[in-house]
Amino acid sequence: MSAVQRWRQSLESLALPPELVASAPESPWGFAVSLFDRLADEAMTGQTPSRRAATALLGDGGAVLDVGCGGGAASMPLVPLARRVIGVDESAVMLEAFAARADRLGVAHLEVLGRWPDVAEAAPPVDVAVCHHVLYNVADLAPFVRALSAAASRGVVVEQTATHPLAWLVPLWRRLHGLERPPGPTIDDLLPALGELGIEPQVARWSQASPWQAGVGDVVAFVRRRLCLTADRDDDVRSALATEGVPATREMTTVWWQAV
Ligand SMILES: C[S@@+](CC[C@H](N)C(=O)[O-])C[C@H]1O[C@@H](n2cnc3c(N)ncnc32)[C@H](O)[C@@H]1O
Repeated sequence: MSAVQRWRQSLESLALPPELVASAPESPWGFAVSLFDRLADEAMTGQTPSRRAATALLGDGGAVLDVGCGGGAASMPLVPLARRVIGVDESAVMLEAFAARADRLGVAHLEVLGRWPDVAEAAPPVDVAVCHHVLYNVADLAPFVRALSAAASRGVVVEQTATHPLAWLVPLWRRLHGLERPPGPTIDDLLPALGELGIEPQVARWSQASPWQAGVGDVVAFVRRRLCLTADRDDDVRSALATEGVPATREMTTVWWQAV
């Protein structure tokens, strides 16, 4: 089996039992805009390898495409070197947060609603494409990544956690549902898959404090949602979190390549 196929298979292994999803009070996969807006706030201060890589690719400045933009954590810290930011997201509320932040920063912006790469043609060509914390949602890697490469004349910067962002929930699934869940793919599954697509990127591995430790979001609400629980189980969630712990740090990876 190819690495691209293994990537897909590993993500598909994370499908939840349908009866659990049917009984869930809200979609277990949704993203809270408030969390990603706060993450964009945090990203505005401080340097990261991802920001440095995008800055180097931007040179004296240019247009930036942010795919799966959320609140704009990947692209907004690049302003004013980023003279125009284009956000693509399948969530309209994320795009509203992205547009509001761009207005506050006084940078030209465009929002494209829909799934990448389906909406790739609606996004104008740019100098640099950034895509942070999206690929673990992308089972069909080849068209997604090829469209990223095709969109940017100078290069692409991808940021990912080293392990699947929900891997730390495995012990909580066991404790709260008695379910043994797979941990999902890691960055070491992604890199060979990119290699099969003809991409030999530069890679920087680094770590940062977990956003949960920094109090960026409501971890109980996050776990409740991801584990398809109702709010009346919140005390169980708190006690499971007290026993299993919340990760103190996030191991991160910046993966970047120049356009050819
Ligand atoms: C984990 S969030 C990351 C947001 C932001 N990039 C950041 O680093 O804070 C993933 C975002 O990607 C969006 N998304 C996931 N798959 C997508 C796709 N195929 N096309 C467009 N947006 C997508 C989600 O709606 C969500 O806003």
